[in-house]
Amino acid sequence: MRLKHKAWSRPYLEEHASTVYRTEEMLGEKGKTFLNASNVYLEIGTGKGDFIVTMGSRHPVARFVGIEKSTTALAICAKKVVEANLGNVILVNADAGKLLEALPANAFTAIFLNFSDPWPKKKHAKRRLTYDKMLSQYFRILKPNGLIYLKTDNVDLFSYSYENLLRFRYEISKKTDDYDGHDDFDAPTEYEKSFREQGIKINRLIAQKGTGTYETIPQSEKTI
Ligand SMILES: C[S@@+](CC[C@H](N)C(=O)[O-])C[C@H]1O[C@@H](n2cnc3c(N)ncnc32)[C@H](O)[C@@H]1O
Repeated sequence: MRLKHKAWSRPYLEEHASTVYRTEEMLGEKGKTFLNASNVYLEIGTGKGDFIVTMGSRHPVARFVGIEKSTTALAICAKKVVEANLGNVILVNADAGKLLEALPANAFTAIFLNFSDPWPKKKHAKRRLTYDKMLSQYFRILKPNGLIYLKTDNVDLFSYSYENLLRFRYEISKKTDDYDGHDDFDAPTEYEKSFREQGIKINRLIAQKGTGTYETIPQSEKTI
């Protein structure tokens, strides 16, 4: 998401400490307390926040953590969370690749990957949010039988992610290349609204964490 830097964004994030946790707070007692609930959901790459705000409003008993590396996008998202007065949504301005490594195991009921950057070039594959290293981390931080919900307009990212999830022994419970948006446990994102207006089809899958681990994958299957 290329957003023009907004000077108010960093001060805004710092001023709203009950919604926006600093990385060290997320990894300390404050974060542990928030994660200590039966249903905690993680969205990686919140963008401007329509998804997490709608989900947080519709599901007040559940808790939501949003990670976003763009300060400006997260500040726009944080404004919506604050204005909606959502105590069950917290945000962290961080790169998920680094933050996830430090988060506790078995913390999340599900992870949402909404319209993640596709990084189409092979040399950038490691930056995809469904690259091996990320799938290993998701496996670790998800609770048993935890879910990954993935939506994207990008056909190549979708098939790459599908194949990689299978390699990591996730079970795919739903998969469509023409998602109609009708699911009680979902909400449209900014990108999704724009794609739908343009008539672009949305791919979606739901993957469930299996019992194997990356270490149990035969060596021959470890490279695509
Ligand atoms: C294409 S935008 C989609 C935004 C939003 N999910 C939507 O659907 O409208 C991808 C977002 O993910 C964020 N992002 C990409 N990689 C990330 C990472 N490793 N950690 C945190 N945020 C990331 C980007 O900054 C960007 O805001």
